[in-house]
Amino acid sequence: MSTSVSAASTGSVDVDLIETICGDVREILAEWDLKYADRPAVLARKLWLLALEREQIVVVAYRDDTVMQRVNQLDVPQDLRAVIRQTLAWIWKDEEMHVDYARSRLAKGRHPVPTAVIFGRQLVGAFSGWVSATSNHADRRKDPARAFVAKTIVTAGRITKRIPAQLAKELSHHQTFRGYCALNVALEESAALGYELLMKHVSDATELAAVQRIEADERRHQQSFRVLAAALDDSGRLRDDVSAQQVIDDLAAISTFHLPASVRDDTTRTVFQADRSVSRSTHKPTDHVDATLWPVLDDQQFSSLIAPGKSVVIKGAFMLGYHRDDLSNVGSPEVIDSVVRYARKHGATDVALIEAPTIYDRYYANRSVAQVAEYFGFSSPNYRIVDASVDQVPVVFSRGLSQQTMSETWMNASVRVVVSKLRGDPTEVAHLSLSTMQGMGSRTDTLIHIDREIDFRTAVMMTLDLAPPDFAIVDAWGHCGDGPLGVMGCRKPVMLNQFWASRNIAALDASVIADIGEDPRAAIIMRRARDWFGVDISADPLTVRPIDPSYRRRRATLFGKFVCLTAYPMYMFGSGKGVLFVPQMDESAFPPVGTTNIGTRTVRKAAQIAFGIRPGSAP
Ligand SMILES: [Fe+2]
Ligand SMILES: [Fe+2]
Repeated sequence: MSTSVSAASTGSVDVDLIETICGDVREILAEWDLKYADRPAVLARKLWLLALEREQIVVVAYRDDTVMQRVNQLDVPQDLRAVIRQTLAWIWKDEEMHVDYARSRLAKGRHPVPTAVIFGRQLVGAFSGWVSATSNHADRRKDPARAFVAKTIVTAGRITKRIPAQLAKELSHHQTFRGYCALNVALEESAALGYELLMKHVSDATELAAVQRIEADERRHQQSFRVLAAALDDSGRLRDDVSAQQVIDDLAAISTFHLPASVRDDTTRTVFQADRSVSRSTHKPTDHVDATLWPVLDDQQFSSLIAPGKSVVIKGAFMLGYHRDDLSNVGSPEVIDSVVRYARKHGATDVALIEAPTIYDRYYANRSVAQVAEYFGFSSPNYRIVDASVDQVPVVFSRGLSQQTMSETWMNASVRVVVSKLRGDPTEVAHLSLSTMQGMGSRTDTLIHIDREIDFRTAVMMTLDLAPPDFAIVDAWGHCGDGPLGVMGCRKPVMLNQFWASRNIAALDASVIADIGEDPRAAIIMRRARDWFGVDISADPLTVRPIDPSYRRRRATLFGKFVCLTAYPMYMFGSGKGVLFVPQMDESAFPPVGTTNIGTRTVRKAAQIAFGIRPGSAP
C-alpha cells in the first residue's frame, strides 16, 4: 500500500505538542522497560492494559455522531467531506477492533487478568473518552453543564497528574476541527509507541503479527490526522495552497478504505456496486416456488453471472435450526433446490451448498453440517454439502485482525451466492444476508464472548472485503421467525411467501428492513458495512413496499423492546458462553453432550418459555 503523501499536506502540525505529549509516554514506557526487563509477561500485561484503556478512550472520543457533526460543519466541497467522513469512520472501526483484541489478550493470556479488572479499565477508558469528546466538541454556550463537568474532570486529572499538563491544556478548551486533528496526531503517535514496545516483548508469532498490524494502523491514523490538520485552517476551510483533490488523493494514498464506495474503482464487487436495485417477488397462492422466485432472479439478471461450466457456491442458513417442528429460522430446501436448478439451467456444473457449525455442537451431538443438512432435508444430487469449518485455507486479509483463514470452496467458486432466511434479530433488526455471511472464516462462536479477538461483524466485513457474494437472495418462503428472537426460533411464526434479490448485498438488506417498517441504520451490522466500505445503507422511501402486516416487528411490544435492549449483553456476559440460552433442541436427533445439571436445565427451560424459542402449534 502506498503511503506517499504530498508535501503540502504535511506541514503546519504542532511539533511541540507531539513532543510534549509523547515525551511523557516515552518516559513511562522507558521506566517500565527497565523495571520489568526480566519479567516480559508482566510488562506485556501492563502494556495490554494500557492499550485497552487507551483504545477505549478513542473509541468513545472518535464516536461517529460526535465527530461527524463537526465534519458536517466544515466549509469544504462535498466530495472531500465524504472522504473525510469515511476516513474518520474507518479509524473509529480500527479502534473498536483494537479494543477487542487487547481485551482478548488480557482474558486469554498465560496469566489471565480478572474480568472485573478488564472491565474496570474499559470503564475508565470510556469515561476518559467522554471527557475528551465533550471537552473538544461540546459548545459551552449550548451545553454549559456538560462542558463544565468535563473541564472539572480534566482539571482534577491535571492536579492528580493522571493527565499530563500539556494534554490537559489541550483538553480544557473547545477545539477547532483542525486543533482536534493536530491533537490526535500526537495521541496516535503515543499509541504507536506503546505497541512498538509491546512488539519487543511478544514472543508468540501470531500475537506479534497482530501487534504489528495494530501498530501500522496507528501510524496510518496518525498520517490521516496529519493530512487533515495540515490542510484545514482554524475556521474549517481548506488552506489557500491546498486543493480538495490533493487532500482526497493524500487520504486515498494512506488507505483505499478512506474512499467511499461510490468513488472506489472496485465496482464489480457486490459491496461497492453503484446499482442499488432490489427485486421483490409477487406471489399468488397457487404459485410454485419457481414461479415466485425465478422472475426475481431474472429481474436481477442472475443468469448473466453464470456461464457454462462455472462453479456456484450457495451460503445457506440452516445451522441455527433446532427442531423440525419449527422451520421458521431455517432456509427452505425447496428454495435452495429452486436456486440450484436455475443455476444449472444456465450452465452451472458444480454447485455447493455451504454452511458452518454454530455453538450448538458444543452442547448437542450430531450437529455437523452434513448431519443437520440431512435432518432438515437438504440433500439432492444437484448439489453437494460443504462444511466451511473443515474447508479452511490460509489467506491474507488486507484489513482487519486475527482471522487468517477462509473456506476454500467459498473463496474459489466462480459465483458466490448467499441465500438468507428472513428472521427477527434483536441487534440486526433482521438476520439477513450480511449476518448470514458468518462462518466463512473463523468459527462464529469464537467471535462473540469476552475473550474474542474480533467480533463476528468484523469477521463478516473481512470476508466481504476478500470474497464478497456476487448475488444475494432473502428467503421468506413459508414460516418466518419474526419478533426479536426469530433467529433462534419462533413459537408463533408468520406465514409469508416472498423473496427479495439483488447483486448489491447492502442495498438488499436495507430494502428488506425498510419493508419490515424499520430503519436499516438501526442494524449494527448495516452500520458496520457503511463504516467499512462507505456504502449507502439508507432505504429509498419511494421503493418501500411494506411487508404483510402480520409480521411482528422486534420492538412491537414492551417485552420486545426489553429483549432488544438486553439480548446482546445478556448473551455475551450472562449466558455462560451460550450454554444457558439454547432453543428447545430435538433431543431425539441431537442428544445432549455429557450431563447437564439441573440448574442449567431449569434456566434453559425458563428462557425457552419466556422467549418462545421452542416449537409451537403452527401447522
Ligand atoms: Fe488503536
Ligand atoms: Fe489509532
